[in-house]
Amino acid sequence: MSPDSASLAGQPLTEADTPALWVDLDALDHNIATMAGHCAAQGIDWRPHVKASKAPELAKRLIAGGAVGITCAKVGEAEVMAAAGVTDILIANEIVGPRKVARLVDLARHTTICVAVDDERNIREISTAAQAAGVQVEMLVDINVGANRCGVPPEQAPALARLVLDLPGVSLRGLMGYEGHVMGMQPEDKEAESGRAADILGRAREALRAAGIEPRVLSGGGTGNYWIAASLGALTELQAGGGVLMDLSYMDAMKVPGHRHALFLDVQVISTAVPGRAMADAGWKSTGMHTGLPAVTSHPGVRVARLNAEHTILERDAGVALQPGERITLVPHYSDSTVLLHRHMYAVRAGRIEEVWPISAAGMLQ
Ligand SMILES: Cc1ncc(COP(=O)(O)O)c(C=O)c1O
Repeated sequence: MSPDSASLAGQPLTEADTPALWVDLDALDHNIATMAGHCAAQGIDWRPHVKASKAPELAKRLIAGGAVGITCAKVGEAEVMAAAGVTDILIANEIVGPRKVARLVDLARHTTICVAVDDERNIREISTAAQAAGVQVEMLVDINVGANRCGVPPEQAPALARLVLDLPGVSLRGLMGYEGHVMGMQPEDKEAESGRAADILGRAREALRAAGIEPRVLSGGGTGNYWIAASLGALTELQAGGGVLMDLSYMDAMKVPGHRHALFLDVQVISTAVPGRAMADAGWKSTGMHTGLPAVTSHPGVRVARLNAEHTILERDAGVALQPGERITLVPHYSDSTVLLHRHMYAVRAGRIEEVWPISAAGMLQ
């Protein structure tokens, strides 16, 4: 955190130097209530992924807003969240090898920890380490529901589930089926493909039942399809989380309904010396652009033409004036590749900073 950042609580946002990453608390709370409400209406639990937000204070706000716990991608993320007081974490990923397994097991000393598994040797290595440490690690058998990333086919689920039930130090929570391939699809394809993924997960559940095993949890769903996935009857727990920040990719490309943009980046014009151009002080080192360019929300007639490493190249309509020092508000295109570039974000309501949230899980890639 830069020296003065923490002390800005209570100050107008304009006191925060640029580039300044901030969340609009009204929009964030609206999005949290929308996702939590959707899950409640469908009678399922919400365990939002925090890989986009990476800030423990935001994670705690999700739990206060109705989440049963959080989902992480990495052990390092989970360690940061646990150290900040989050007590129920799913690592929705395979955690493999002695170093990471030792850390996973260590987390289970203070936190309810569940991990995705799709391999017999991996289940055994976690069991051995957990038993030696005297802890329990819960497991979701990961099913490949079409994303072809990780996960076994449904018919292999009973053997892995039985192994988890039989081994010490580990216990079976249920099944996971994350349908990542569906998220970016066109709305007309999304429903059918979400249905196909739900059917595959349902087949795995039935295969378990036929083997006399009842999964307590069926986990999946992302922001790109959650309003469909939650209502298909296959899931008992939803992993969608990034939608609380609601960037341009979720709204425009993934067509997520009913949310408001909650994540913003304030930048500052630093030069208008080149005719027809204006430069601001944030490039792709401040906002990720692999999915697209950010949009300007504060200045009608001004657009982002390009991002260099440290510069935003702004275009403006004829007659629109910009001066060095002017603040411009952008909506990032993708929160996942923006938040991790920053050390903190300002939590803002009606233009005033209420809190400053460290983004302490950024860089926790292991
Ligand atoms: C395992 C898993 N669950 C859920 C999600 C959905 O995350 P989000 O809702 O932030 O898009 C992802 C996204 O990549 C994921 O990999």
